[in-house]
Parts: sequence; structure tokens; C-alpha cells
Amino acid sequence: MRTHYCGDVDEALSGREVVVCGWVNRRRDHGGVIFIDLRDRAGLLQIVADPACADVFALAESVRNEFVLKVTGTVRPRPPDTANPELPTGRVEVACERLEILNEAATPPFQLDEDDVSEEVRLRYRYVDLRRPQMQRRLMTRAAIARTLRAFLDAHGFVEIETPMLTRATPEGARDYLVPSRTQAHAFFALPQSPQLFKQLLMMGGLDRYYQITRCFRDEDLRADRQPEFTQLDVETSFLDEDQITDLMEAMIRRLFRDVLDVALPDPFVRVTHAEAVRRYGTDRPDLRVPLELTELTEWMRGVEFQVFSGPANDPEGRVAALRVPGGARLTRKEIDGYTEYVRRYGAKGLAYIKCEQPARGRAGLQSPIVKFLPDDVLAHVLTETAADAGDLLFFGAGHRDVVNDTLAALRVRLGRDLGLVESGWRPLWVVDFPAFTWDRREKRWLSPHHPFTAPRTDDPRRLRDDPGACLSRAYDVVINGVELGGGSVRIHKRALQQAVFEVLGISRQEADAKFGFFLRALEHGCPPHGGIAFGFDRMALLLTSGRSIRDVMAFPKTQTAACPLTDAPAPATSAQLRELHLKLERRTGDGDA
Ligand code: AMO
Ligand code: AMP
Repeated sequence: MRTHYCGDVDEALSGREVVVCGWVNRRRDHGGVIFIDLRDRAGLLQIVADPACADVFALAESVRNEFVLKVTGTVRPRPPDTANPELPTGRVEVACERLEILNEAATPPFQLDEDDVSEEVRLRYRYVDLRRPQMQRRLMTRAAIARTLRAFLDAHGFVEIETPMLTRATPEGARDYLVPSRTQAHAFFALPQSPQLFKQLLMMGGLDRYYQITRCFRDEDLRADRQPEFTQLDVETSFLDEDQITDLMEAMIRRLFRDVLDVALPDPFVRVTHAEAVRRYGTDRPDLRVPLELTELTEWMRGVEFQVFSGPANDPEGRVAALRVPGGARLTRKEIDGYTEYVRRYGAKGLAYIKCEQPARGRAGLQSPIVKFLPDDVLAHVLTETAADAGDLLFFGAGHRDVVNDTLAALRVRLGRDLGLVESGWRPLWVVDFPAFTWDRREKRWLSPHHPFTAPRTDDPRRLRDDPGACLSRAYDVVINGVELGGGSVRIHKRALQQAVFEVLGISRQEADAKFGFFLRALEHGCPPHGGIAFGFDRMALLLTSGRSIRDVMAFPKTQTAACPLTDAPAPATSAQLRELHLKLERRTGDGDA
């Protein structure tokens, strides 16, 4: 049907006859000559229809945007003053000798190069949206990422194995998507939140090194970097410890950036403990391109008369910290009010500040509503510890440590962007030494920051039970430029320890047997020490294509309400289907049957 892709036609083909197929990007009528920009996967090509060729010309007059054409013609150089250096094909055009309209197209719902098209419309007409060159590039990069990862893992002895989609709940902290069984009344499959238990079972099965690029399903509140259905690169290995696993995975990420972006990532990646990350950045996924850090002040504020600071400083769960903003003294009152408003969404009650016009002059060189509440020694400590310079501004967070951390972490990134401080490049890091358990204030119970199969640092079930809050885990996360790209751990491989972790988490023996009996039994049948990691594959693609949301790197993503505007899924089921599945819909007044 065709001899070349549009985007591949260049001067080397001058004088040759080519056949190209594609979509009409634009038609321009110029003084009796018609120009058509024909588009395919490879790019744009200018087609010229001359009135001398009457039937071709007449047909060319009838084409509209997004019509599908087949063009036969001769490649010729463009007159020098009409060449388009922006396009790879910009020095040539094709003099059309035969034109065939392979298909007509309705008026497009939007112009492909239009900027302010709502995402809802883009997703409803995704097949049109996907024709945009940047969407094509992103999906091709996504495929290149999968190729590189597979090549690396295959070369390192990993076996690609599929795991079930119709399965039992896998606890990763989100709600499950359930699928009712027709053959077993009132029983449900859950779609996997991850292949966690299966990949561990594969290690018990002696496969030694497993990987899979696979779909995961989580019914959770969606954000720009979360989808209900997303893809993981999932990895598990036997007989390796955490350093060996992270070294291997780090080599893989470095190879990926080299192959796809031609970028050399730092070697080795920075390693930061969870405690240090929270102390310095307020978060366990810091964007290290932002050169701002928090200063811990809790102990120093215990004795001050300023209640806003001394209250949290004397609360075991409180924190007081400062964020130095270089050059921030020039922020206006209105801008500071704007930031105060901004931090309220993270639960902060206010945002105290000190403008350090000339800190060397002591109080006289500071401008702030709060310095009058701080004694000399405390003030001096604050200025020294933050290394406040002339022209800087200090922001303060005081309150419950979670609120202070969330607030200052968000403010740090926001200020970095607003003040143009964000450095360029790639700043990967490993976050290690996570707490094995975190206390949930609202539900008053211990939770796993990762999942309950993560090995704690101690093998002693008694130490776990005695002081869960003091235990660290053998988990690790990899973060690049503020994006949590992946996370994993060495796993528990002994039944007694697994049982103890369940106990700490408040999962009774009966509940554990009911939910994970098959897995606990497997731990008793020769389970090797093992561990692994899963990467957010969509987030990888997002980073490597510099997109804004993971929806940009998925062919058919869902909206914020977890719906698909293209297919209108989810959709009602018929009453016959529901009967077969042994389900009854509660009927709301006014609704028809199901
Ligand atoms: P975790 O839950 O941390 O670990 O998931 C691993 C990685 O998957 C990505 N991710 C998501 N991406 C898009 N949308 C979502 N809703 C979403 N949720 C998670 C993140 C995250 O780092 N079984 C464990 C891994 C292990 O222990 O080996 C797990 O799933 O990039
Ligand atoms: P107030 O005493 O409430 O007028 O607060 C004095 C200053 O402290 C103001 O600049 C407030 O924005 C700030 N402030 C109040 N609550 C907090 C808090 N929890 N953390 C940081 N600053 C606060």
C-alpha cells in the first residue's frame, strides 16, 4: 500500500516516486495550488496538488482535516524560500499524481495542536488525541522503557512469569476491586493490588528470580500520579539481602536512563534514612533538586512563652521546625499571606515568619510578628542553626509532627518553584530504615508503612511485640525528583515472625488464617530468604517523558472519578447478569430495574 512513512521522506528520495498514507493535518489553498500536510506516526509531509492535474486537484479540494489519504507522487526539493527548517521533511514536498481518499472524517472534536482542550474531551476522543505527535512519542518511549527493562532483567537471569488477575485480596492499603463469581454464589474474586503474595510464592517455588510488567488495581482517591488501574515492574529474588537487591535495581535504573535519555545518573544513588529524610525535608520522598532544608527546633522551643511554639514542642507528637528561604526577605506581605493560605490545606493553623534583613544586627535587623516572643538565646540559636543570611526569610511550622511535615514539605517545593531555585537534572535517592510500624492516631492501631510481609530488622517476635514503634524494617524506596518510583523490601520468610507481625497489626489468628492461610502454610514448606521491589511503570514513563500526569503516558487512562469517558465504563449490568451472579441491586426510587 505504501512505500514510506510520511516523516521519513527526505532529500535523498528526490526524483523518486513514493506512496504515502496518513491523516490530513491541514489543507491550505494557495493561489491555485493546494498544499496538504499529511501526518503519520513518523511525522508530517507536504503534498502539493496542482490544478494542471485536474482530477487530483478536484479531489484535493474536497479533503478536510483528519481525512485518511493515500498519495502517490514524486519527491522534489521545495523552492529554497519555502523550505521549513523546523520539519525533518521540510526541504521536500511530494507532487501528487494520484490521490485516493481512503476514508472521510467527521469534523474533529478539537484541533490536534489546540492547547486548552479539556481532558474529558481528549479522553472521550482518545483515538484522535493519540494522533498528536507528543502522545505518539510518549507511548513509543513507554515501549522503549519496557524493552530496556526486559533486556536488563533477562540478561541478569530473571524469568518473566504471569500471576492471576482473578485472585484474593492482596493488602497494599487500598480498597479492592471485586468480581462476583457466577459459579460460587456470594463469593468474590479481588483484582490484585499487586502480585505481592504470588511473587513470594514463586520464590517458595524455587524460581529464584522473577519479574513481570503487570497491571495492578487499587480503588483509592486519585491524583495526578495515581490511577485505579496502573502498571508495575514487579521483581522478586531469592537469597539476596537488601544491599544486593538495591544495587542490582539501581544498575537497572541507571541503564534505563542511559538507554532512553542518554543521561548518566549519579553512581551510587544517595542513601537517606527515613528519619533523616523526614527531619531534613518533611517527607520520605524529597525532591532533592530543591536546595532548601528544614531546621529542627523542637527542643529549643519547649521553654518559650509563645504558646504556638511551646505547645507542640512539649507534646510528644509535636514538632517545631524552620525553613530558610534564601532571598525570601523580599517577599511582600501579600505573598506571605498567600503562602499562609496555601499551608492551611495541609492542616497548618498559621505560618510564622522572620524576615532577616540584617541578622548580624540582632533583633534590630529582623522583621517579624514573633521575635518579641523569643528570648535572646533561642533567637540566636535559630539564626545560627538555620544559617540565616542577610535577605533571607525563615518560615516556621509548629503543631502535630504530621501536619508540620506535610506543611513544610509542600512549602519547600512550592517556594523552590516560585523562586526559581529548582536545580536541573536528576536526583535519585534510596530511602531506607523505615519504621516497621506506624501508629494510626485515628484508628488507634499499628499499621505497616509498606505491607505486612516486610521483614522487620529483628528476628525476635518478642521484641516486636514489646515495642513495635522502635522497630525498623528492611524496606527501601527509590525516589527520583520527588517521585516515589518504587518500593520493596526483604520479606519475612518464617511463619512465627509473620504471625507476630500480624498480631502487632491487630490481625487475629482466625483472621490471618481466613485471609492468608494458604500463604502461612506455604511459609512452612521450605521458604527461602527472599526480597524484591515494585516500580510504578507509569511513573517511570512519566519521568522519562517529562509529562504532567501519568494519564499522559497511558493510552486509555481513567478520569479523577475512576471512569472511562471513551467507553463510559463503569456501566450498569442487566438484571439477567445480576441474577446469574446472585446479586441484587437495592432499588432507589425512580430507578428502573438495575
Ligand atoms: P507499592 O504499593 O509501594 O509496593 O507500589 C509500588 C509502586 O507502584 C506505584 N504505584 C502507583 N502508580 C500509579 N497509580 C497508583 N495507584 C499506584 N500505586 C502505587 C508507585 C509505587 O512506588 N508489592 C509492593 C512492592 C514490593 O514490596 O515488592 C507494592 O506494590 O510508584
Ligand atoms: P497568632 O498568635 O495566632 O496571631 O500567631 C502569630 C504568628 O504565628 C502568625 O504569624 C501566625 O501565622 C503564626 N502561627 C500560628 N499558628 C502557627 C502554627 N501552628 N505554626 C506556625 N506558625 C503559626
